[in-house]
Amino acid sequence: MTDTYNTPPEGSPHTGRTQARDFILQATDIKKSFGGVHALKGASMTMRRGEITALIGDNGAGKSTMVRCLSGIHRPDSGTIVLDGKTVTFENPVAAIKQGIETVQQNLALVEDLTVWQNFFLGREKTHGFGPFRTLDRKLMKSTAGDLLKNLAVNVPPVTSRVRRLSGGQRQAVAIARAAGWGSKIVIMDEPTAALGVQETARVEGVINSLRDSGVAVLLISHNFDQVMRLSDHVWVMRAGMAVAERRTAETSGDELVALITGARAA
Ligand SMILES: Nc1ncnc2c1ncn2[C@@H]1O[C@H](COP(=O)(O)OP(=O)(O)OP(=O)(O)O)[C@@H](O)[C@H]1O
Ligand SMILES: [Mg+2]
Repeated sequence: MTDTYNTPPEGSPHTGRTQARDFILQATDIKKSFGGVHALKGASMTMRRGEITALIGDNGAGKSTMVRCLSGIHRPDSGTIVLDGKTVTFENPVAAIKQGIETVQQNLALVEDLTVWQNFFLGREKTHGFGPFRTLDRKLMKSTAGDLLKNLAVNVPPVTSRVRRLSGGQRQAVAIARAAGWGSKIVIMDEPTAALGVQETARVEGVINSLRDSGVAVLLISHNFDQVMRLSDHVWVMRAGMAVAERRTAETSGDELVALITGARAA
């Protein structure tokens, strides 16, 4: 396996080993600088359909910058993003969401004083009627939010409870269920369990697994090697603005990943 990619990544159509259609996402040669800081120096990575892809690397390696390019927060300086076979550019986060990429941000954007169902539909309220007669369809929104949570087997209080009464794990589950509920192709999660205890982490990991089982491709940014080994199907390693290695999770170990992250092992 070649691990450093100046050319298209392993599994691209050029290698003949994996078909392009196996990929839900192909990011190629992405560059992004902030003034003199070259956060991404031509990074290439892929995500396969129906898989959990982990993105790991040391602090400052460029993971969040990559995620922000994929979710429309940043515009890359150059490079291409192919989503589900089509080259895409995102003017803003709403454009990324419309094309099927949902992101669960590290600092959750749930509104404490609203209920669970209101958080689900924030900015996407369902209405019936038209013009001045348009009213919010609360009943529909409540039942839809309840169904989405149930589908992900999340044990949370009724959708009418306020978010401020939920635990950290329950909030994270609501945020993931919300991201999963819109027919998205990809859900990106930046450190989804960093702030959680053992039991809550287990619960959120269950939610991430159900999401994958429902056919959504997940990009998981995590500093927790055990979690990466437990959950992911493939791992991409970033170092100093480049994606330097890809491994099948089943064919690597925590030790090898640490060595790839630090550069102790040549990729
Ligand atoms: N908006 C910005 N302005 C200036 N520099 C930035 C900006 N965002 C990121 N950087 C720099 O780009 C580099 C990559 O940062 P990034 O946040 O992508 O790293 P990371 O891999 O997510 O790290 P961590 O594991 O600490 O979250 C760092 O040197 C960082 O200081
Ligand atoms: Mg980061």
